[in-house]
Amino acid sequence: MKTAIFISGGGTNMAALLYASRLPNSAYEVVLVASNVPDASGLGLAAAEGVGTFARSHQGMSRPDHDAVMEQAARDAGAECIILAGYMRILTPEFTERWQGRMLNIHPSLLPKYRGLETHKRAIEAGDKVHGASVHLVSSELDAGEVLGQIEVRITQGDTPETLADRVKIAEHQLYPRVVNEYLGRANDPEHLLQKVRDLALALPGTHERESHGSPGWRVGTEKSGKYFAHFNDQHHGSEHIALLVKTDSMDELLGLVEAHPHAYFKPAYYGASGWIGVILNRSGVDWDHVADWLERSWRKVAPRQFTKLHDAADQF
Ligand code: GRF
Repeated sequence: MKTAIFISGGGTNMAALLYASRLPNSAYEVVLVASNVPDASGLGLAAAEGVGTFARSHQGMSRPDHDAVMEQAARDAGAECIILAGYMRILTPEFTERWQGRMLNIHPSLLPKYRGLETHKRAIEAGDKVHGASVHLVSSELDAGEVLGQIEVRITQGDTPETLADRVKIAEHQLYPRVVNEYLGRANDPEHLLQKVRDLALALPGTHERESHGSPGWRVGTEKSGKYFAHFNDQHHGSEHIALLVKTDSMDELLGLVEAHPHAYFKPAYYGASGWIGVILNRSGVDWDHVADWLERSWRKVAPRQFTKLHDAADQF
């Protein structure tokens, strides 16, 4: 996965991420290092390592305008994911929402403790025995997105915010590349994708899982007379996709979607002929709410009325 790293300072986490990306089997590649501080020393290191760089000071610019310039630089470099590494800017909610699930940050505390600044000082003053760092998804609320991984660092007698910060950084350099690798690697992991689909499919009323032609599928109704509303395909019939198959309304709808969004949909072998569409899951930026909507739509087409009624009633609360 192509990633852009945003920094404001020394960029030691960026360096750790960059070098880790050059180890065998890395799930990501760094295509850009960008900064709001034109003389950030990390930019020099990135350039020396042959990585594209971009810098634009935020001074004299509105927040949305500056965000837009940084975002455009990431897109121009082909980035599918943005990694914040000491990027000292609060981002507009519009920006974070557009990159939901594809923007990560590292924060020097064991979240949810100590959001915001001066975390080392606050941990020492609180008398904590343990401090650390967290990698989390970025959401519109500061340092509040889902935590993907954490590492603990002991606070020792006589620690100052500076000595503690130095050790936390060493720990961060271990944590960040590993979590990024795991998280981005999951986008291509069939087991992980299957589990996500399974959780969504089985959350619908009256459903059960049953294999069909060697692939997992989900049915609604009784074991005896239930009907399939979804199938999971892991690179079936020579396709390169890991996909969810669901029912469309018509062949026109199916073909229209495939033509308009070929990165997101395809017409699967055999099933396509009877109106099933392939929703591609092994790509960046899959919107899982949208996947859930597709599952529900497909489920409604075949679910007995007793279940759809139940579901509609539950939706009212
Ligand atoms: C790190 O401590 C990170 O947790 C915080 O900013 C610092 C960045 O340091 N978000 P560096 O620029 O990676 O050296």
